[in-house]
Amino acid sequence: MTEQERILELRTMLHTHNHNYYVLNQPTISDQEFDMLMHELIDLEARHPEMADPNSPTQRVGSDLANEFETVRHSRPMLSLANTYNRQEVSEFYQRVLSGLHGEPFQICCELKFDGLSISLHYEQGRLVRALTRGDGVQGDDVTQNVRTIRSIPLQLPTGMDYPDEFEIRGEVLMPWTSFDRLNRQREEEGEQLFANPRNAASGTLKSKNSATVAQRGLDAYLYYLLGDNIPGDGHYENLQAARRWGFQVSRHMRLASTLDEVYEYIDYWDQHRSELPVATDGIVLKVNSLSQQRSLGMTAKSPRWAIAYKFQAEQAETILRQIVYQVGRTGAVTPVANMDPVQLAGTTVRRATLHNADFMQSLGLHVGDHVLVEKGGEIIPKIVGKKETSAPVGDAAEEGAFITRCPVCQTPLVRYEGEAAHYCPNENGCPPLILGRIEHFISRKAMNINSLGPETVDEYFRQGLIRDAADLYELTEAQLMKPTAGDQKGVRKILQSIEESKHVPFERVLFAIGIRFVGEIAAKTLARSYGSMDAVASASMDSLLQINGIGTVIAQSVISYFAEPRNQEFIERLRRHGLQMSLSEEQLSAQSDRLTGQAIVISGVFHHHSRDEYKTLIEQHGGRNVGSISQKTSFVLAGDNMGPAKLEKAGKLGVRIVTEEEFLAMIGD
Ligand code: IVH
Repeated sequence: MTEQERILELRTMLHTHNHNYYVLNQPTISDQEFDMLMHELIDLEARHPEMADPNSPTQRVGSDLANEFETVRHSRPMLSLANTYNRQEVSEFYQRVLSGLHGEPFQICCELKFDGLSISLHYEQGRLVRALTRGDGVQGDDVTQNVRTIRSIPLQLPTGMDYPDEFEIRGEVLMPWTSFDRLNRQREEEGEQLFANPRNAASGTLKSKNSATVAQRGLDAYLYYLLGDNIPGDGHYENLQAARRWGFQVSRHMRLASTLDEVYEYIDYWDQHRSELPVATDGIVLKVNSLSQQRSLGMTAKSPRWAIAYKFQAEQAETILRQIVYQVGRTGAVTPVANMDPVQLAGTTVRRATLHNADFMQSLGLHVGDHVLVEKGGEIIPKIVGKKETSAPVGDAAEEGAFITRCPVCQTPLVRYEGEAAHYCPNENGCPPLILGRIEHFISRKAMNINSLGPETVDEYFRQGLIRDAADLYELTEAQLMKPTAGDQKGVRKILQSIEESKHVPFERVLFAIGIRFVGEIAAKTLARSYGSMDAVASASMDSLLQINGIGTVIAQSVISYFAEPRNQEFIERLRRHGLQMSLSEEQLSAQSDRLTGQAIVISGVFHHHSRDEYKTLIEQHGGRNVGSISQKTSFVLAGDNMGPAKLEKAGKLGVRIVTEEEFLAMIGD
């Protein structure tokens, strides 16, 4: 056997083992044997670049290259379903079908309604060729790269089966509860914001620009709708059973019902048992099984007449509100939280629920002692949705239900900014949670990137009185940190080293790190490039700031008031003394020009001379702006190899110039 033949053989074997493991849950070889075959394939593919194939099992690990999503039109619109919430509405649907079919007998396919995001997969000759998100139903994002990393989605169907040459199969991409819990635990440790539910997590993941991230997040997919000109038969249920044989993950909980009572039975069963499923569901989908009957029933403008969703009631429980406490977040936002008598809800004991903000609290008119209804919908944090009866209020009822006026931590009067629902503590430099928030921002990856320090360590140092602001970090000594509670020697050295290294972080990130309100990463870059140094930014006038493209009154005003504050001036002086970068480097200055000023540039394709990120930096250094998608306003497309056909077409249509890598480098005089 030649090496090329062995590559093909290994790919087929690995596709099969993958299916056995991820879809059938019945592996026939050990993980170790699987890894050995995979490594053999990786080695052979490295020796035979001419055999590259995006659908090879080796591609499931994804890549770190930033991918962009092209917008692609669906071959058939992706409709959504009308919702029902009770038996009455289900019965009305059933009657509508009955009369629509003029009394003809029919069956209803009952399915779980998976709570993820819908996906459309296209196969040609058994190979996955395209995966699109729903988008607006007419066109979606091409997320093929990311979808290839989902192990339960077949990249190549086994040969010799009865699938059509071309077909589309739709379904739901989900994050199983176990992956979701793991992800949120990890995010918690890293001080990142948690995902509220598996649907948000799945959606955020599938739209990630980095397919290697997607590969690690453990997404899964269930398929529930087969479309195409030559699909096997007239039965939706039967077609999906065929799709399962071809290798797709199709739910084993689908049932055919011949009467309305059988439909109710299915609904009742899953209303009771859905918490036992490994993935989130939010209802039941009912579909007329015969495709010819589906066609004769047709569609309304938004949804088919042959299908409907029945949404589960969120589980509710009644308990007593005992106390309202207020939490101050790292941004200063104050959140009211209800403490209640513990109650069992959807498999967990609930004691606390968020009350969001003052408006929400007022709309419920809550008082301590009220009997309240708590609900756990798609969110993991339970919420109070109403009250059953009010306790006889002790004291003045209006006062008890009212939102606090002072910060519960530092007693500063709270403010409510125009257009915002939350109350904030404005005491940025004096209120502990806010101080911690500012230090965490300062050390974060996109700011000073002091990555050996996590939020817990910062908390700890703060509690011990070792730091009061970010400048104090640069005064920490090994002796201080070696106190028994503070850490081990190796860890401490690493922390001090990464603090030391942060002194080389370029000026624009220092400007971002100091945390001027409304000055995000981009504004900081713009300011750094326009003024070149901290002193110049600090003494810029309102007029001069407003001259800059991308700086509006809100940012300008905020910059002026930041530098007017003596405390902030002092803070900057301390950072300067510690050796942080307070101006653009010689290198940055000499690399700068205004050759691309005012130009909006799209980057697309694969490059030879520089990476995509480097091109982005080059564009910015020369005054241009890197934008994501082609529009009338695009100045030109910097195109490498393999620019996507949809982009090419769009550029052609709008008359946007295509510039090659070499032409671009000549343009900027590189
Ligand atoms: S069928 C034309 N079946 O629910 C029928 N949808 O609003 C297309 N969903 O967008 C959908 N489980 O994302 C169908 N078993 C299932 C489903 C399901 C979840 C989602 C899907 C769709 C939404 C309906």
